[in-house]
Amino acid sequence: MKAAGGTLALALGLAVAGCEAAPATVTFADASITLPGDPIDLPEGPGRQAVVENCTACHSPSTMLQQPRVSREKWEDIARKMIAVYKAPVDPAAIPAIADYMVAVQADQTAP
Ligand code: HEC
Repeated sequence: MKAAGGTLALALGLAVAGCEAAPATVTFADASITLPGDPIDLPEGPGRQAVVENCTACHSPSTMLQQPRVSREKWEDIARKMIAVYKAPVDPAAIPAIADYMVAVQADQTAP
C-alpha cells in the first residue's frame, strides 16, 4: 500500500508540472474535415431506390458495384444474410427489387 501511495503522489506531481508548463489560455480553432467523396454512384435503374434505402447505410456505392458477379438467388441470400448475421435493417419486402437491381447493374458492367 505504501509503495502504491508513493507512485500516486509522483504521478500527481508530474500532472501539476505539466499544467504549469501549459499556456494560460487555450484557444480552440474551428476545425473541419472533408471526407473523400465516393466518386462512384449507383447507376439509375429499377430497384435502385431499394438498394439506396437498405444497403448504402453500411456499404458505399463502389463497394456494392465491386462485388463478384453472382446470380439473382445469391443476391437474395446476401440480403437475407445481412439481416440475419449483421442485424441490418433491410426491409424483407425490398429484397426482390434489390436482387433485380444488383443483377441488372452487374450485367451492365463490362467484364473485369
Ligand atoms: C447494418 C449494416 C449493413 C447493411 C444495412 C447491409 N450490410 Fe452488407 N455487410 C455488412 C457487414 C458488417 C458485412 C461484412 C463485412 C464486410 O464485408 O464489409 C457485409 C458484407 C456484405 C457483402 C460481402 C459479401 C458477404 O456475403 O459478406 C455484400 C455483397 C453485402 N454486404 C451486400 C449487402 C446488400 C446487398 C445490402 C442491402 C440489402 C447490405 N449488404 C446491407 C453490413 C451491412
